[in-house]
Amino acid sequence: MKKTIKDYQLENKKVIIRVDFNVPMKEGIITDDTRIKRAIPTIKYAIENGAKVILLSHLGKVKEESDLQKNDLYPVSIRLQELIEKEVFFSNKTRGKELEEKVSSLKKGEILLIQNTRYEDLIGKKESTCNEELAKYWASLGDIFINDAYGTCHRKHASNVGIANYLPSGIGFLVEEEINKIDGILEEDTHPFVVIMGGAKVHDKIKVIKNLIQKCDLLLIGGGMAYTFLAARNYPIGKSILDEESMEFCKEILNTEEAKIILPVDHLVSGSITSDKVSIKRICDTTELDMGFDIGPQTIQLFKEKLSSAKRVIINGPMGCFENPNYQEGTKEIYQYLTDNHIKTLVGGGDSAASVNQLSNPNKFYHISTGGGATLEYLEGTVLPGISVIDEKK
Ligand code: 3PG
Repeated sequence: MKKTIKDYQLENKKVIIRVDFNVPMKEGIITDDTRIKRAIPTIKYAIENGAKVILLSHLGKVKEESDLQKNDLYPVSIRLQELIEKEVFFSNKTRGKELEEKVSSLKKGEILLIQNTRYEDLIGKKESTCNEELAKYWASLGDIFINDAYGTCHRKHASNVGIANYLPSGIGFLVEEEINKIDGILEEDTHPFVVIMGGAKVHDKIKVIKNLIQKCDLLLIGGGMAYTFLAARNYPIGKSILDEESMEFCKEILNTEEAKIILPVDHLVSGSITSDKVSIKRICDTTELDMGFDIGPQTIQLFKEKLSSAKRVIINGPMGCFENPNYQEGTKEIYQYLTDNHIKTLVGGGDSAASVNQLSNPNKFYHISTGGGATLEYLEGTVLPGISVIDEKK
């Protein structure tokens, strides 16, 4: 068992909390603040217990000078301030005198957010390669390190893994909740256990499929990735997305696990994503000019039948291009069926969480994970470096 923030005496301590404020932004405006909201319980607990809180997070990728402004964390400090209803100090520097002065003038119960940790990637990729010297430097700013950046736990960065090597460490409430919920649904011995997978590429999900197919009773496949499976079964897919490099994998798994894998029988097609001329076709009637963008009504019905006795469900990836109003129905209907029937459902993956927020009520699900890559790797059965590095309870 990992230590948590509750295992430490925080009064007057400088507590460095690694959060995942890698939020979507458009021209400096935050378009989804879920990750900021989900970090608040840990930050609040720390300030209520007398800590001086120092927050670290990355935002986007920093490869060249022009990425700096685009990935400035300052707007996040403003949003956090509104949400937490308390002043949030900001250090525009990731190291040096200005930052050190701000740290040493922190009083108990105050919060300081440090500029994007990946600013340190501009020269020598120091953050992303878990540079020792940088990790030691950041660790020198605090007394205790808490990792609450669940979405970044699959990365080995200086600000999450490196720093934990030099300070007493624990996990925050978000990381604790994420791993408890995911372990909980995976380890529960109730059946049928159904996995629903969607999204564009099979390639990114091969390891997840390999791991979950051993545990589940049924695997329903929708979204863009269904087409590579359909092609592997020699169905016509027209111009629909094909992940050629994963064809062999699809053929093999369809051979060995045929009874468990359920593919779409119809879909919504069009000549292009921008065209409003949409028709419903059986998969076997797909022509060379068709591109599929959502599962069709018969597939929705089929998936509902397969879900009717499900005791637990993991869903990873939407059933169609839900960002386009023409192709929301499949994802929306499946969510509605799951929530109306109170089926215990864990939603994982960045696109899935966004689709739930847009098309359903997140409160009706057992758990919506804040992790994209992290949840995928967790579901693959990988030990996440950001978690394994944390101190164990004695
Ligand atoms: C995420 O959004 O998946 C995490 O914040 C990690 O971001 P990254 O893929 O840029 O490392």
